[in-house]
Amino acid sequence: MWPFAKAPASPVIRLFSGSRAAACAAIHAKAFHQGWSAQEIADLAAEPSVLAHVALDSKEKTVLGFSLARCAGQEAEILTIVIDPASQGGGLGRLLLQTQLDAMLVQGVREVFLEVEAGNAAALALYKRLGFSQVGERKAYYARPGQPPATALILRREQA
Ligand SMILES: CC(C)(COP(=O)(O)OP(=O)(O)OC[C@H]1O[C@@H](n2cnc3c(N)ncnc32)[C@H](O)[C@@H]1OP(=O)(O)O)[C@@H](O)C(=O)NCCC(=O)NCCS
Repeated sequence: MWPFAKAPASPVIRLFSGSRAAACAAIHAKAFHQGWSAQEIADLAAEPSVLAHVALDSKEKTVLGFSLARCAGQEAEILTIVIDPASQGGGLGRLLLQTQLDAMLVQGVREVFLEVEAGNAAALALYKRLGFSQVGERKAYYARPGQPPATALILRREQA
């Protein structure tokens, strides 16, 4: 490599701000049948108990994903995490979730819970990688257009 060549710039994780809400809603709508509106995302992120992070391109212009979690004492719940399809599979989901888990640890959170559709292989791989394991199951939990409702798995992670 040419000695002065720069390494490719990496995405960064930042705290959510209201100006990012519309971009977050657009990404959410690509991933879920019932996407959340920009207002719903902004309102949730503004709750004092909610941690909200965004993944941005290296120039901090484009939103590539976001995650929201609600903390209550020593427990927290991941409300949603989503990466734009064009940026999936490159480690960004892991970076985003790890950042949020670290922020929870600082706040004293010791147990983190989440619900995930049983057939969501990417999400299950991400959660397993970050130390979550299954503690429960809710059959016929997620409504799906034109298909039978899907099972939800409840996962838990203990924080060191
Ligand atoms: C789930 C999601 C956030 C993961 O983000 P991502 O940036 O694609 O994930 P990463 O690239 O960080 O990969 C994390 C792990 O999952 C694995 N993985 C990623 N996509 C996968 C796939 N389609 N199938 C199987 N494993 C997959 C990776 O190999 C990696 O595992 P490793 O660290 O052991 O190699 C992303 O796929 C997404 O936004 N999905 C739609 C929304 C969603 O389902 N959110 C979760 C709701 S509970």
